[in-house]
Parts: sequence; C-alpha cells; structure tokens
Amino acid sequence: MNTTITCRKALPTDVEALYELIQAYALQGIMLPRSREALLRHIDSFVVAEEAGRLIGCGSLFRLGADLVEIRSLGMADGYKGKGLGTMIVNALIEEARALQVPKIMALTYAVDFFVKNGFSVVEKEIFPEKVWTDCVHCSKQHACDEIAVVKLLS
Ligand SMILES: CC(C)(COP(=O)(O)OP(=O)(O)OC[C@H]1O[C@@H](n2cnc3c(N)ncnc32)[C@H](O)[C@@H]1OP(=O)(O)O)[C@@H](O)C(=O)NCCC(=O)NCCS
Repeated sequence: MNTTITCRKALPTDVEALYELIQAYALQGIMLPRSREALLRHIDSFVVAEEAGRLIGCGSLFRLGADLVEIRSLGMADGYKGKGLGTMIVNALIEEARALQVPKIMALTYAVDFFVKNGFSVVEKEIFPEKVWTDCVHCSKQHACDEIAVVKLLS
C-alpha cells in the first residue's frame, strides 16, 4: 500500500517520538542529546516528516545570531534514508530561515556529501564564533571536534 509522506511543523504531541529518534542518534555519537523538556520548549523550531501518523524524520532551526541560523537534530528513521526526506526537511528549514530573513544557514555534520548536494559549502568552523560559545562549550568533544562545518548563503 502506498502512503503519503508529509512535512509539517512539529507539535507538542510529537515530543516523545522526537525524543526517541534523536536519542538513538545521540547514543551513536552523531547528534547531541535533547531532553524531553528541551524538545517541548523548542518544539516550534522543529519540522517533522510523517507517514501514516508515524514520525519518520526531523530537523530543527536554531538562531545563532542576527544573520545566522543552524540546522540541528536532522535525522531520518531507519528504513527512510536515501528517499529524499532529508532534502525535504532541509528545504523546509531553509524556507523558514528565508521567512525570518536570515541570510546564512549552517550545520556541523558528518554527512558532508548530503549537505554539499543540497547547495552547502564546506568552511572552517572557526568562522562561527557564535556556535562555539553557545553549544560547543557544553560538548564533551569540544577539544577534539571532528564534525565538518557547512554553510549556505540565502539570497
Ligand atoms: C543525513 C540524512 C539526514 C540524509 O537524509 P536522507 O533522507 O537519507 O537524504 P536524501 O535522500 O534527501 O539525500 C540523499 C543524498 O545525500 C547523500 N547522503 C545521505 N546520507 C549521507 C551521509 N550520512 N553522508 C554523506 N552523504 C549522505 C546520499 O549520497 C544521497 O545522494 P544521492 O541521492 O546522490 O545518492 C540521513 O541519512 C540521516 O538521518 N542520517 C543519520 C543522522 C545524521 O547523520 N544526521 C546529520 C546530522 S547534521
């Protein structure tokens, strides 16, 4: 049976499914963990993909400064990778950034090719002091960060 996949803003009722999706990646060391409380507090920043009422992907937008937002917590559920959903969610987040009139969108990632395919460029992470002072100071990997910074200019 073919079912439709939709992309929408997250709702408070998505918190548990979001928590489980993000926590599974956090345990693998490829995402920062987010508590249920933090997810609820920032639920408006999340976009989710859904199929037949099941949450199958997510991503969020975090403002780092007046002219910069970051894509965070981007992940698809097992069995749903490579189907264009990551691209769909990134495009939705880019549209949100545009609506906020923010000119730059960045991410710290291991999935470099995915972002390059979506029009991002690899840059030195040191060009984002805003990122270092909000998140990295709390990260256990801060002195040995192996994630790659990518950025896209939105005109
Ligand atoms: C990375 C991720 C979000 C991409 O979403 P997706 O729905 O699988 O990606 P799409 O189908 O939209 O795009 C697929 C393209 O991106 C590339 N890609 C997908 N995952 C990738 C990865 N981990 N590393 C490098 N490139 C990747 C593929 O090569 C593919 O290119 P192709 O279409 O030419 O074959 C998803 O694979 C995922 O959840 N990965 C685990 C969590 C993660 O690494 N999140 C990123 C944190 S910033």
